[in-house]
Amino acid sequence: MKFLVLNGPNINFLGIREPDIYGKSTYNDLVQMITDYALTRGVEVTFYQSNCEGALVDAIQRAYYDKIDGIIFNPAAYTHTSVAILDAVKAVSIPTVEVHLSDVNSRDEFRRVSYIRQAAIDMVCGMGFDSYTRAMDILIEHLKDK
Ligand code: DQA
Repeated sequence: MKFLVLNGPNINFLGIREPDIYGKSTYNDLVQMITDYALTRGVEVTFYQSNCEGALVDAIQRAYYDKIDGIIFNPAAYTHTSVAILDAVKAVSIPTVEVHLSDVNSRDEFRRVSYIRQAAIDMVCGMGFDSYTRAMDILIEHLKDK
């Protein structure tokens, strides 16, 4: 199985941005942790992070041609605003799990809105880095049943 781990704006600033919310570990730490976990689960992972909405849409479309089996996706702030990202996930029909480090339901009101949710097979939030490994488990289970 080949998974894409896709991260949106400001996730490259982990460790610097609001450490009380997002923790002190960096984006590289996140990549390392997911890579290690993927090895134990026997899945191949590739990573992409961008601060630009269109670049994220391009990455989702690339995943289609690369025959990616599943997407673990933290669209970050674009979760709450982007119809383009929702449409891209719908367009490629690749099982996608929406992920957030923080508990988006217990923060600002606007963070409760998620455009991508209607295209995602599931959503995990509030578990820090473990949100990503939980999402990986969900995708593996989902694809096993196919
Ligand atoms: C986030 C939550 C979003 O509301 C926020 O804009 C982010 C990160 C999270 O991982 O908790 O940038 O997606």
